[in-house]
Amino acid sequence: MQHNKLLVVGELNVDLLLNHIEGFPKIATEIIAHDMNLILGSSSAIMAANCAALGASTTFCGKVGSDFFGSFIVEELQQKRVDTRYVTVSETHQSGITVIMNYDQERANVTYCGAMETLTQEDLPWNEMSNFTHMHLSNFFIQKGLREGIDSLFKRVKKMGLTTSLDLQWDPQNKWDFDYEACLPFVDVFMPNEAELLALTKVENLEEAIAIVTPYTNTLIVKRGQKGSIGVNGSYRCEKPAFLHNNYVDSIGAGDSFNSGFIKKFMDGATLEVCMEFGNLMGALNTTAAGGTAAFVDSERIKDSIQTIFDIDLTQYDEIKR
Ligand SMILES: Nc1ncnc2c1ncn2[C@@H]1O[C@H](COP(=O)(O)OP(=O)(O)O)[C@@H](O)[C@H]1O
Ligand SMILES: [Mg+2]
Repeated sequence: MQHNKLLVVGELNVDLLLNHIEGFPKIATEIIAHDMNLILGSSSAIMAANCAALGASTTFCGKVGSDFFGSFIVEELQQKRVDTRYVTVSETHQSGITVIMNYDQERANVTYCGAMETLTQEDLPWNEMSNFTHMHLSNFFIQKGLREGIDSLFKRVKKMGLTTSLDLQWDPQNKWDFDYEACLPFVDVFMPNEAELLALTKVENLEEAIAIVTPYTNTLIVKRGQKGSIGVNGSYRCEKPAFLHNNYVDSIGAGDSFNSGFIKKFMDGATLEVCMEFGNLMGALNTTAAGGTAAFVDSERIKDSIQTIFDIDLTQYDEIKR
C-alpha cells in the first residue's frame, strides 16, 4: 500500500497572545495584559502540525522572513515533526505576525502578513508533487501571491494524481472575491465554517448557501462551532454534533484542528461519517488547551486526552474504511 503523504500549502506567522487584559485598548492610553504567550500561529501551520501529531507524514510549503520569528516558526514546525524543506526565506519581507487580544470567548486580532504574501504558485514543489498523495491549502484571501489562478493550481495538482482540500478562512477585506465555480470542481473537500460560507455566497440562510455551492463541490463540509458540522457529497448529506465538554480554554485553531482530523481520516480512506466525527473530535480537543496546537503533542497523548476528557476510545476509528 502506498504511504499517504500530505503537503500543506499556506501562510506562516507567529501568534502573540495577550490575555487577561484590563479593558479595551484606547488611542493615546496604555493598558496592562496580565498574561502573554508567543506561539506558532497560522491556520495552515496548525493544521499541518496537528496532522503530523496524528501520525500523518506532513510537509509544509510556505514563506517566512529572515528574522527571529521566521526561525522560531521553522523550529516549531520541525519540533512537531513537520518536514520544512519547502519553507523558503524571503529576503524582502519580514515574517508574519498576528497580535491576538483575548477577551473570554471573543478575541480581537491584528495581522501583519509580511512574507506570506510573497508565496506564489512557482514556490510549490512541482517536480516533487507526485511524491505526495494529498494537498491542503488554507487561508486563501490573505495570500495575495497565491490567489491569482487558484483554479489552475488545483487543476494541475489534481492532474498529478493528488486529492485536494481547501479552507478559505475569512476575507479580512470582506470582498469574497473567489471564483468558486471555476475552482471547486478541482477541490475534493471544501471546508469553510458557516459564517464564511454565508459571506462567500452572500445569503443569510445556510441551506440557501449550501444549495448555491454544491453544484460545484465534490465534498462540502460546513464547520459550525458548538453545533458540529454538516457534510454534503452529491445527494448524500450527513450532520454530526459537536463533542461538548466542560474543559473549554479557547477556540483558536478549532477549525484547523477539525481539518487535520478530517483530512487524516480522508487520506486513510475512511467514510465521510468517520472523517466528520474524527474532525469534530479534534476540533473539540483543540478547545481544551490554549492556542491551536497545545492539545496535540503526539498520537499517544491525543488518545489519552480523548479517553480522559470525552470517554472515547480513539482506536474505534482505526479500521473503518470507505
Ligand atoms: N466549544 C466547542 N466545543 C466542542 N467542539 C467545538 C467547539 N468549538 C469548535 N468545535 C469543533 O471544532 C469544529 C470547528 O470549529 P469552528 O469554530 O466551527 O471552526 P473555525 O475555527 O474555522 O471557525 C466544529 O465543527 C466543532 O466540531
Ligand atoms: Mg477556520
